[in-house]
Amino acid sequence: MIPNEIIDQILDKTDIVEIISGYVPMKRAGQNFKGRCPFHEEKTPSFIVSPAKQIYHCFGCSAGGNVISFLMKHERMEFLDALTMLADKANIALPRQSQADRGKSSFADKLYGVNNMACDLYRENLTKEDGKTAYRYFIQRGITESTIKHFRLGYAADSWQGVINHCKSKNIDLETLQKAGLVLQREDKKNWYDRFRNRIIFPIFDLRNRVLGFGARTMGTDLPKYMNSPETHIYTKGKHLYGLNFSKEYIRKQDYVIIVEGYFDLILPFQNDIRNIVATLGTALTPAQVQGIKRFTKNAIMIYDSDKAGEAATLRGLDLLIAEEMNVRIALLPKGRDPDSFVRKEARPGFMKLLKESKDLFDYKLGVLTAKFQKNSPQGKARIVGEMLPTLAKIKNAVLKAGYLKKMSEELSIDEKAVRAELEKVKPEFRASLAPYSISLETVKEHKKSPASLAEITLLAIALDDAEYLEKIKEELGGENFKDESIAAIFKKITELRKEGKKVNPSHLICHLKGAGTSEIISEAVSMNQIIRDKEKALNDCVKRIKGDSQKLTLHNLQSEIKKAENAFDTNKINRLIAEYSELIKEFKKNGTSVKG
Ligand code: CTP
Ligand code: MN
Repeated sequence: MIPNEIIDQILDKTDIVEIISGYVPMKRAGQNFKGRCPFHEEKTPSFIVSPAKQIYHCFGCSAGGNVISFLMKHERMEFLDALTMLADKANIALPRQSQADRGKSSFADKLYGVNNMACDLYRENLTKEDGKTAYRYFIQRGITESTIKHFRLGYAADSWQGVINHCKSKNIDLETLQKAGLVLQREDKKNWYDRFRNRIIFPIFDLRNRVLGFGARTMGTDLPKYMNSPETHIYTKGKHLYGLNFSKEYIRKQDYVIIVEGYFDLILPFQNDIRNIVATLGTALTPAQVQGIKRFTKNAIMIYDSDKAGEAATLRGLDLLIAEEMNVRIALLPKGRDPDSFVRKEARPGFMKLLKESKDLFDYKLGVLTAKFQKNSPQGKARIVGEMLPTLAKIKNAVLKAGYLKKMSEELSIDEKAVRAELEKVKPEFRASLAPYSISLETVKEHKKSPASLAEITLLAIALDDAEYLEKIKEELGGENFKDESIAAIFKKITELRKEGKKVNPSHLICHLKGAGTSEIISEAVSMNQIIRDKEKALNDCVKRIKGDSQKLTLHNLQSEIKKAENAFDTNKINRLIAEYSELIKEFKKNGTSVKG
């Protein structure tokens, strides 16, 4: 699709250190930069970025690749999206894409464009005569002019054709408007009308500040209070968190996130300088949303309304956050308040105090349950324990979990052993419920190498260095091939490049070869290259190792064939095989390969 030369050009004009340091705090360490790996939990840094080679690699979990692989893994971007972003930064124009892709991306772009246009229209409406009521509504709710601008808030006019007429003048067809969720078609299939009318508008953005859709609130008491964009080609409700585009940097810096429910619950605190905040927009927190937050912090404080619905939503969100290994606290609002009204009354100091007094997940849930069930009756105790255990079972930290178990048995005055026994019963269900979320760490850790492929990676590390070593390795291996298919493919590619007299650039290579695990293998080889002291010796050891392994396999196979021939009393075959066998043994001895095992 996109020629390798252009990809290489983009990579050459991009600095991996600059990009990654936007996500991971790093310090210089010799020729590399070093930090704590964003892909697995660790206390001591084993994540390195090489400015010279333009690759990153984690010695802990084997994650690695070039800047594009990083963006794909860390930001969950598609290859083309990552490339486009870097191309934009580097001021390099991408060529037209293949037919299918062009259709796909330009359709999404079209919707972003239409949404953006509608967003501007809504914003402009707010400055007009018939937008005065809406403007006053915002002001009345304590929102300032600059906050309106920042969040691009607006007003959908009291008209059936506001967006339609505006877009007609810009030559946008109705079908596109419909696909963007902005207009609807009457049942007669002839007439169209605006979805949002006489409502204040909250545009919903993605992390790149593109407009995905809208929320629209009535200024009166009519229902529904809020209307939202439908799911569209570009908007999937459970995937996005409102405000994250505005708050992500604050979340990262302060290392915790405040999770609220509504638009106003986010905007008013934000205006009061509480900016590490996101909103779920009234829906239950989803695993995808938690994944989105986890890229910026592992700590969360939930503040939901202090009503029954809020409590239920808090409890569900709580379990999900724990399952995702986030640390969660819950801030409790006074009765009848939400974060919006609370911060307006108490301002920042009051809000900070509320956060400071937030409760531990355990205390919170136990509090909710003891208010519901009799703490002193055996039945009540059983109910409370029964509801607490699934939550406790989700805690992965064994020390923490043991502490909570102890605390719970004390507070309910029941035998700790009995509680433990109950917990054991919860486990299978807990694992099953967790399965869809437990993606990241385990898959990363699966990339473990056998000692044989460690030898192969080492040879690759040496081969990347210069053409002479590559020749030497091929000579020494004498036709023996790499068992790891990806490594074999990388070797083949390097050989081709050398034949053409071209340089081997590992960062480029990662994009040219799209095999599974290629980026991890190449980045590991590059990082290893820096540690190998004696390349000659390493080369010889590794060749021996690889040859030895394959010879052992041949021996093993010969042995079983001899057994078969013996069972069949095939004397001729037995003799031939034995001759072959002893011939091999002799050769091994000459090469110094151990034949035991
Ligand atoms: N919501 C929605 N549709 C509704 C009601 C609520 O999408 N019919 C979402 C909105 O995103 C809203 C959030 O749920 O912001 C929280 O709902 P609620 O607490 O009822 O509204 P508030 O945000 O408190 O709105 P307001 O303060 O304007 O009454
Ligand atoms: Mn409210």
